[in-house]
Amino acid sequence: MYARRQLLVSQLCLLALSVLAGQSPPSGFRDPKSSALDHVNPLVGNGGDTPNGSGGMIPSTAPPFAMTRWVAQTRQNYVSMTPYNITDTAIHGFQGTHQPAIWMGESAQVVVVPGAGAVQSVFEERGMRFSHDDEVLTPSYYKAILAAIEGGHIVAEQSATSRVGHLRFTFSDTAAPYVLLEATRASVMGSDDPANVTYPFGSISINPAAREITGTNPERQDFIIGPNAAPSFRGYFVARFDVPFASWGTATNGTLYASERARNGTLLSGYATFAPHTRVVNVRVGVSFISIEQARRNVEAEVPNGTSLEKTAKKTRTEWAEKLDRIQVAGASDAELQTFYTGVFHSLQYPYEQHEDGKYYSGYDDAVHDGTSYTGYSIWDTYRAIWAWQILLAPERIPGMVQSMLQDYEEGGWLPMWKNIVETNIMVGTHADSLIAEAALKNITGFDLNLAYKAVHKDATVPPENDSTISYSDREQGVGYEVRAGLSTVYAAKGWVADDVHSEAGSRTLDYAYDDFAVSVLARIVGNTEDSSFFLNRSMVAPFTIYNNGTGFMEARNADGAWAGESAGWTEGDKWAYSFDVVHAVDELIEARGGKAKFVESLDEHFEGGHNDHSNEPSHHIPYLYSLAGAASKAQSQVRQIAKVDYNNTVTGLAGNEDCGQMSAWYLFGALGFYPVNPVSGEYVIGSPFYDEVTIHLPMAKKPLKIISSGAPNKPYIKSLTVNGHKRLDPIISHEDIVQGGTLEFEMSSKPEAWASATVVNA
Ligand SMILES: *[C@@H]1O[C@H](CO)[C@@H](O)[C@H](O)[C@H]1NC(C)=O
Ligand SMILES: *[C@@H]1O[C@H](CO)[C@@H](O)[C@H](O)[C@H]1NC(C)=O
Ligand SMILES: *[C@@H]1O[C@H](CO)[C@@H](O)[C@H](O)[C@H]1NC(C)=O
Ligand SMILES: *[C@@H]1O[C@H](CO)[C@@H](O)[C@H](O)[C@H]1NC(C)=O
Ligand SMILES: *[C@@H]1O[C@H](CO)[C@@H](O)[C@H](O)[C@H]1NC(C)=O
Ligand SMILES: *[C@@H]1O[C@H](CO)[C@@H](O)[C@H](O)[C@H]1NC(C)=O
Ligand SMILES: *[C@@H]1O[C@H](CO)[C@@H](O)[C@H](O)[C@H]1NC(C)=O
Ligand SMILES: *[C@@H]1O[C@H](CO)[C@@H](O)[C@H](O)[C@H]1NC(C)=O
Ligand SMILES: *[C@@H]1O[C@H](CO)[C@@H](O)[C@H](O)[C@H]1NC(C)=O
Ligand SMILES: *[C@@H]1O[C@H](CO)[C@@H](O)[C@H](O)[C@H]1NC(C)=O
Ligand SMILES: *[C@@H]1O[C@H](CO)[C@@H](O)[C@H](O)[C@H]1NC(C)=O
Repeated sequence: MYARRQLLVSQLCLLALSVLAGQSPPSGFRDPKSSALDHVNPLVGNGGDTPNGSGGMIPSTAPPFAMTRWVAQTRQNYVSMTPYNITDTAIHGFQGTHQPAIWMGESAQVVVVPGAGAVQSVFEERGMRFSHDDEVLTPSYYKAILAAIEGGHIVAEQSATSRVGHLRFTFSDTAAPYVLLEATRASVMGSDDPANVTYPFGSISINPAAREITGTNPERQDFIIGPNAAPSFRGYFVARFDVPFASWGTATNGTLYASERARNGTLLSGYATFAPHTRVVNVRVGVSFISIEQARRNVEAEVPNGTSLEKTAKKTRTEWAEKLDRIQVAGASDAELQTFYTGVFHSLQYPYEQHEDGKYYSGYDDAVHDGTSYTGYSIWDTYRAIWAWQILLAPERIPGMVQSMLQDYEEGGWLPMWKNIVETNIMVGTHADSLIAEAALKNITGFDLNLAYKAVHKDATVPPENDSTISYSDREQGVGYEVRAGLSTVYAAKGWVADDVHSEAGSRTLDYAYDDFAVSVLARIVGNTEDSSFFLNRSMVAPFTIYNNGTGFMEARNADGAWAGESAGWTEGDKWAYSFDVVHAVDELIEARGGKAKFVESLDEHFEGGHNDHSNEPSHHIPYLYSLAGAASKAQSQVRQIAKVDYNNTVTGLAGNEDCGQMSAWYLFGALGFYPVNPVSGEYVIGSPFYDEVTIHLPMAKKPLKIISSGAPNKPYIKSLTVNGHKRLDPIISHEDIVQGGTLEFEMSSKPEAWASATVVNA
């Protein structure tokens, strides 16, 4: 074991060095020019050899928020395992994946496998060796050179639009070329035991005259959790080739049925072979959640017959360039530029489009509807900062994303918590309340505000079914919607979720209080002042019902009020992180914890004692609390320290899981110098900008937003701040200050300064 680990570490070191160089696509794939895109490296953070697997996102090609992302598949993916692993040496196909994060299951994937010689359909037998040295990884174009099993090689190139993968295989002139489409495989259950599988039953159909292979795949690894059975869910695909078929057939578990045109079953594939000496095969694979016909329409709408791979890649590169080139950075090193722009690339992938042609399949009621829909929301993570980031950089998407959540509410009865096609009940809290309130507060329109209020009001007032008898533990199977489990048993009456009745009760209490605050904000916006003050009151009272003044920490309580013990009731965090987790009432929290000086001492103890766990979300806002306690200079040094220790441009460059972009959003806001500590306040708290200057052309603003912080790379401390020429003494800026563009000018210093730091100065 030790020797194997050594090998792994040295491989990773080599890779870590090689990715520093960045990836420039070959000519033909560099159009349009984009200096920002040239800094993106999809391998950054991908090889995190943490016990829980990858820190980053898979290195996939597809446009922003794409329905299907395409990735070279080096291993079978399931909950806790991604399809591409940097330590692997063989590619087994190219997967059109819908798995949004390592913690979630795959759904309705399709795999395209080139080969030369005897057709290999079994995953373990079809792996082809490749070298990372030949790999080209960019957001719009991927290339690898595969060693074909019977000799010779295949140059595999890939790009993708939202619903279509475009692959081009160039075969060396050695053996009969073929391409296989895998419809179904052995699917690892929602557990992480790879031996525990089910066999999804799919279909394959081959039309040689049309040069087409179509199929269906009902795989949905999350089907054992969550309330929505979605029985008719399946992925449909249509693969269209640009060369005639020489022969064809189906295959199940390694047995080939030559010349067969249709089969239904498990472990099912279909293939086409091409005339000997065929050198280049293009295949366009359209994917749909609605029907084969829709998948075919998707192909021709997004990548019409005759489109070159160069043209497909250009379209996708243009979409990324449109976003990334909105941001210009001065004074960052090449390594920092790569960390930064790869972060932007990660921040615009999820949630992903679930609609096709103005229609979408809903897993909530198992029916097709008109409208726009998104899925792949890890809202427990994303309400913190990535949503605020998307509101700034992709505001045109927000109305559709909110409307999509409202459709989920209408079709399933509740807003989503962790939507992966269907509700999965993963993590706690009804933070869709926060997403919607934040969008409304930031003047995003284009969704039904009254329906939105009805939906969040239900979250805050209606408990889940059997609230007093189901504990709703993480990934509990066979239960209904989890929503605010514990609302009826104690929370609504007394302010805390009872630890002896519900799982994660301490975290739930604090999260529900924050969500109540979000509901009060939305109530205010829709003019319901009575509700607004009711939920505001509850949000201010509830968190402090679990503050144990005797220990100085938050602590979960039982139904009868007894303390449950300092380690009880936390999810993905501990008493240290959660005792700082009242972002909507920071002044009250400071007061409860003994005033500013004592609060700053407790923050010092938190950081110096190694209790800040930036690899998980409950710690993300904590350094910024120094600013709110009158110790801004300490926030400045902590933010810089975290950015340095927990982020870099190597394959291990993300200390924690990307979590649909939240990990990167922390870095991006950090680099700009502010962070949305309370997302539904409309305010950001000042940290310490990283670079000399950042200019952002925000889509909603008429003029650029300029963040000037000359000398920042070597001077982490702030001496003064002006916003559009006006001096600011408080370490706070509002959304209004930045959303229309303008200038934030920081005067930087190499030593701690008095600015916004009265508590430190007086201490
Ligand atoms: C990460 O892995 C460790 C060790 O296997 C486990 O204890 C922990 O619960 C995992 N964390 C998450 C977030 O899954
Ligand atoms: C990648 O592979 C290594 C070695 O098998 C493993 O330790 C790691 O968890 C894998 N990462 C992911 C994200 O699957
Ligand atoms: C397989 O996984 C399912 C779902 O998690 C679980 O209910 C079942 O007990 C597992 N079976 C085995 C043999 O581990
Ligand atoms: C698939 O084939 C392998 C080897 O031939 C065999 O061991 C396995 O049981 C088969 N699986 C199924 C589900 O038939
Ligand atoms: C596969 O199943 C579909 C739907 O049940 C059916 O219409 C079709 O005839 C089947 N095809 C084969 C080859 O059995
Ligand atoms: C695609 O275009 C080619 C050449 O223009 C034509 O021969 C072929 O039939 C078309 N295929 C489809 C599926 O329309
Ligand atoms: C929202 O719009 C109102 C009315 O135009 C304006 O007063 C307010 O400043 C805007 N808020 C934000 C956060 O932009
Ligand atoms: C609630 O409990 C009843 C009685 O045990 C059971 O029939 C029902 O399925 C439960 N509902 C949910 C959503 O768990
Ligand atoms: C909050 O409500 C409680 C009763 O539920 C009341 O005693 C208290 O005065 C209210 N506080 C505020 C700030 O409105
Ligand atoms: C909390 O404890 C401190 C001492 O640890 C004490 O001074 C203070 O009065 C207590 N506050 C309450 C509300 O019990
Ligand atoms: C990159 O970051 C990772 C995780 O935070 C860390 O383990 C690694 O040492 C860093 N590498 C470099 C070259 O700084």
